[in-house]
Amino acid sequence: MTENASKYNGPDHIGIIMDGNGRWAQSQGLSRIKGHRQGVETCPRIIEACQELDIHYLTLYAFSAENWKRPESEVNALMELLELFLMNETETLVKQRVRLHAIGRVEDLPARPRAVLKKAMDVTRKFDEWHLTLALNYSSRNEIVDATKSIAAKVAAGKLDPKDLDWETISNHLYTKEMPDPDLIVRTSGETRLSNFLLMQSAYAEFYFTATCWPDFTKTHLEEAISYYNNRERRFGRTGEQIDVEASLSF
Ligand code: FPP
Repeated sequence: MTENASKYNGPDHIGIIMDGNGRWAQSQGLSRIKGHRQGVETCPRIIEACQELDIHYLTLYAFSAENWKRPESEVNALMELLELFLMNETETLVKQRVRLHAIGRVEDLPARPRAVLKKAMDVTRKFDEWHLTLALNYSSRNEIVDATKSIAAKVAAGKLDPKDLDWETISNHLYTKEMPDPDLIVRTSGETRLSNFLLMQSAYAEFYFTATCWPDFTKTHLEEAISYYNNRERRFGRTGEQIDVEASLSF
């Protein structure tokens, strides 16, 4: 866990709940799947914008563990789009020197997107400055369950003393153990829920909600979100006066 302290630093990690593909499509008399297809088009634009804006970590909520409940045709279309996105974008990610990660129970994805995902992660493994994480079959509650199982197994094997358990131990067993906590969570389409996305990691994140649907989301919208973030004072439990003193000392 990191504290990207105070209002004087821009966000280093942005998590985005890419919502509103279906409504965007339906409002124009198109099928929901066309909306998802258009939503996929937004992703490379925002990955590029993050580099231009010096944001090193971008996490996109692409498929939640609850999304399996959607009609089979929509789930299949989303899996095909994921596969296509990875096939089309891996070369660009390599050119951009972006490392691809995935969080969630990716082992339960269908074989084809899983294979392309693995390949894309393998070929970008050597990069360490820019990070794109796809949350796939992701649920924060499942993440806590998986972390707890793995911690319990270590305790049962005598490798971990329960007395030593603290937040750092738990955090080191989350899917996100190698990345900093998100500084800013953005949700598009006017909904103001977290929907099981990075619940523990966003304990001190700022939240930005916009009515813009994901297919219409551009670099300008991202800049608006960042500008909102930059006007927040992040105190991490401290007082505003303490933050001002720390900021003056760091200049
Ligand atoms: C929410 O829109 C979006 C999703 C459930 C999936 C997000 C997926 C994509 C943008 C495409 C896949 C992404 C990648 C990176 C391959 P919604 O369907 O809930 O919209 P609605 O709330 O208007 O119905």
